[in-house]
Amino acid sequence: MIAPSILSADFARLAEATEAVRGADWLHVDVMDGHFVPNLTIGLPVVQALLKATDIPVDCHLMIDEPDRWAIGYAEAGAHNVTVHVEAAREPVKIADGLRAAGAKAGLSVKPGTPLEPYLDLLAHFDTLLVMSVEPGFGGQDFMPAVLDKVRLAKRRGLDVLVEIDGGINADTIEQAAQAGVDCFVAGSAVYGADDPAAAVAALRDQARRGGAS
Ligand code: DX5
Ligand code: ZN
Repeated sequence: MIAPSILSADFARLAEATEAVRGADWLHVDVMDGHFVPNLTIGLPVVQALLKATDIPVDCHLMIDEPDRWAIGYAEAGAHNVTVHVEAAREPVKIADGLRAAGAKAGLSVKPGTPLEPYLDLLAHFDTLLVMSVEPGFGGQDFMPAVLDKVRLAKRRGLDVLVEIDGGINADTIEQAAQAGVDCFVAGSAVYGADDPAAAVAALRDQARRGGAS
């Protein structure tokens, strides 16, 4: 699966940005609050508008403090998957249960420096594991291959979660991520920096398949 990140799109033309990636599996939306990460993007009102503008399932990545307070609103708005950061969540099981009760998939994300081992049992309550392959906050950063060990660990343990990777995914890096077992690839600059974003999505998907993703 390929999930284009609209962080690299033109924020004045978001509806067109969704149109530009027809055929994408998920639309990745980076919500940043200027506290959990040193950048500020968009919040619930813009996500609500995006949900009206597209049929692509919306994947909300919440890089915010207090996800216990805010995450549920994104599920209630109709997001397909809502991911919170384990570094910010106070009661992650309660968040996951609330997201699922509101009809969304529940995602848990780990920053590059956060180990996965302490959270393996917790992941039984989640549908998605989002492994960050850059420090969260900005698009266009270099992929950190060391995080693929976490992908391999999740796969080795047979966790019943979809494994998503986010940061620095492009034609040079997607195959190694696919070989490690990633199921869903977020790509911002590699998609929206291309002349034809829909063709870039298709090309990345072909490459991931060649790399070993199903
Ligand atoms: C970074 C965001 C990513 C970002 C990825 O904090 O979570 O989703 O958009 O952008 P690229 O693909 O350019 O690294
Ligand atoms: Zn993201």
